[in-house]
Amino acid sequence: MGVAVATEGLTRTFGAVTAVDHITFHIEEGEVFGLLGPNGAGKTTMVRLLNALILPTSGSATVFGKSVLQQGDSVRSMTGVLTESPNLYERLSARRNLTFFGRLYGVPEADLKSRVDRTLTWLGLADRADDLAGTFSKGMKQRLALARALLHDPPLLFLDEPTSGLDPSAAREVDTLIAELSRERGRTVLLCTHNLVEAQRLCDRVGVLANGRMIACGSVQELAQRLWSSMAVEIDLLVPPPPDLGEILGAIPGLSMVTVEGTRIEVRVNTREQVPEAVSAIVGAGGQVLRVVPREHTLEEIYFALQKEERS
Ligand SMILES: Nc1ncnc2c1ncn2[C@@H]1O[C@H](COP(=O)(O)OP(=O)(O)OP(=O)(O)O)[C@@H](O)[C@H]1O
Ligand SMILES: [Mg+2]
Repeated sequence: MGVAVATEGLTRTFGAVTAVDHITFHIEEGEVFGLLGPNGAGKTTMVRLLNALILPTSGSATVFGKSVLQQGDSVRSMTGVLTESPNLYERLSARRNLTFFGRLYGVPEADLKSRVDRTLTWLGLADRADDLAGTFSKGMKQRLALARALLHDPPLLFLDEPTSGLDPSAAREVDTLIAELSRERGRTVLLCTHNLVEAQRLCDRVGVLANGRMIACGSVQELAQRLWSSMAVEIDLLVPPPPDLGEILGAIPGLSMVTVEGTRIEVRVNTREQVPEAVSAIVGAGGQVLRVVPREHTLEEIYFALQKEERS
């Protein structure tokens, strides 16, 4: 797998505000990468920079090897963008909106009609295809904007808060679509979202922004490991544990037994890879394991811990 996006010291200022501040990161091909951070952290500015819609103040970025500084047109031909506000032509029908943008993106005329129809059907808009976009509900407009981003079948998609303002079932449909784009179609997705449950479900890795800087980048597991040196694992046994279990576990580097309450014990491990190791040590000591529940940190806990660290 190649690299879809790579930045090096990417920086963009607006007057006194540094919206994107010396960010170096990359997105692998086929990955769903989540860009998280509070309002004003720099997410949308990053999206605009990576689509060569605005230029960096300093630093550089490439999209599939093409420079956003020198090869903006090539970059834009490989990307689809769902912006924060849909920006559709309200007085054109859904079909005419897509046909117009399809031409703009250079979809071959011979393919245009079938491509538009297929995309409308895909996004559940086929029966409203000839209604004016201005008469659509917010969720339908969002789906039409998503259709526009997908129309020219770009290998890299930027989705800036694609589910904001959608009802739960429409949001879930968009999430399913993102997962499908990535897993079945090998598309790369950069997803800006405030919905941390959505991000945890969809993203292979996330980058957390604060005041224009990327304060953390990695998978949920990697970030949790960086923030907390150990993880609790709750283990239920069939009968109370042998009395020397604490000692046996304590002798294994990185493992310790914290509490015993009847048949329930809590073990701490340094890495999630040590969970099976702990279980086999318990079994080896005569423990009859019934249930193992690692208490993995959620992206939400990670996010708040990072923002707290940032403030202190
Ligand atoms: N065109 C502009 N002119 C002046 N300042 C700008 C411009 N675009 C962005 N900014 C500033 O850059 C900072 C980052 O804004 P940006 O829109 O990238 O944040 P964001 O992370 O997308 O926030 P949100 O979650 O609210 O969408 C903010 O302080 C914003 O005011
Ligand atoms: Mg934004």
